[in-house]
Amino acid sequence: MSDTLKFVRHPHPNPTPADKRAALLANPGFGRVFSDHMVTIRYSDAKGWHDARVEPRAPIPLDPAAAVLHYAQEIFEGLKAYKTADGGATLFRPIENARRFQQSAERLAMPKLPEKIFLEAVDELVNIDRDWIPDGDGSSLYIRPFMFANETFLGVKPSSDYLFIVIASSVGAYFKSGADTAVSVWVSQEYTRAAPGGTGAAKCGGNYAASLLAQAEATHHKCDQVVFLDAAERKWIEELGGMNVFFVFNDGSMTTPPLGTILPGITRSSVLTLARDKGISVREEKYSYDQWKADAKSGKLREAFACGTAAVLTPIGTVRAPDGEFVIGNGQSGARTAELKKALVDIQRGAASDPHKWIHKVF
Ligand code: PLP
Ligand code: COI
Repeated sequence: MSDTLKFVRHPHPNPTPADKRAALLANPGFGRVFSDHMVTIRYSDAKGWHDARVEPRAPIPLDPAAAVLHYAQEIFEGLKAYKTADGGATLFRPIENARRFQQSAERLAMPKLPEKIFLEAVDELVNIDRDWIPDGDGSSLYIRPFMFANETFLGVKPSSDYLFIVIASSVGAYFKSGADTAVSVWVSQEYTRAAPGGTGAAKCGGNYAASLLAQAEATHHKCDQVVFLDAAERKWIEELGGMNVFFVFNDGSMTTPPLGTILPGITRSSVLTLARDKGISVREEKYSYDQWKADAKSGKLREAFACGTAAVLTPIGTVRAPDGEFVIGNGQSGARTAELKKALVDIQRGAASDPHKWIHKVF
């Protein structure tokens, strides 16, 4: 089967007028403003990958017996396109998203979209919807590639048909409080996100469905995000509902939970590299909730931050749990979080050199 495809372009006959688009981009929030187009590619066991199109974004017809609606065989990715000072557009490490998409596909018994086609699909959409990339600090075009089981069949088995789609959403900060305001987190002690042998390391919709009750509990306790502990011992910190987590200690060192049952975040991997570039000692090691509480209270822990494509680096100020709450540092953003965020964002936005060749130029 071929790993090249020709994309047929059907530009929108009535794209959003410029004045309406400008009004939408003025304050887009996260995930509610969508661009004019989408990319679709079909897969069937018989034909492989075929029928690649760039077309107007529109509802998709689905048979009520489509397998995804019953057994949730679905995976997705998230990455951002940035506008550069010279009027171009860039993506940050998109090859890592293409690779993780393949790993997620493998875990969900889905076909692996060749990396090259994944990248071309994303480039096609960014190109045609370039006017939807907002400028300004903290704004970008969030790209959402996803794929789902599209066979009309109620038997439980890997689907024979899939639809891969890429859509784009003009976004600002993920949290309503803004990009640099410390968030509060709720430590879920009843619900877990992933168990050894499960799908925790895959980016599949089912993981998020399973996290929603815990997230609702977090919201009920006036927290922005939920923190999950490991499923076996309910002891070790894993990650947040939609972000990885780092801890910064008074001796200058940092730690983050090891890979295994957590999502291998591309921001996490970039922060590890940037910290090591700066000579900071960073461990990928288990850290328990009890130790977190003790270190925050003794002052040994100076900062904690969440990180991910949507959240970038967001400071964690308050930790709440059924057994009480504690504050990290002064409850605000810390210097190390701000320093690492700047190092990352400057590379992403072309304000600093790119020693690791992370930037992919779209045009
Ligand atoms: N963990 C979870 C559960 C996520 O949903 C995300 C976001 O994609 C991350 C971590 C961070 O991953 P990345 O930095 O690749 O966006
Ligand atoms: C991302 O950061 O891209 C994510 O997927 C997290 C999102 C589910 C909020």
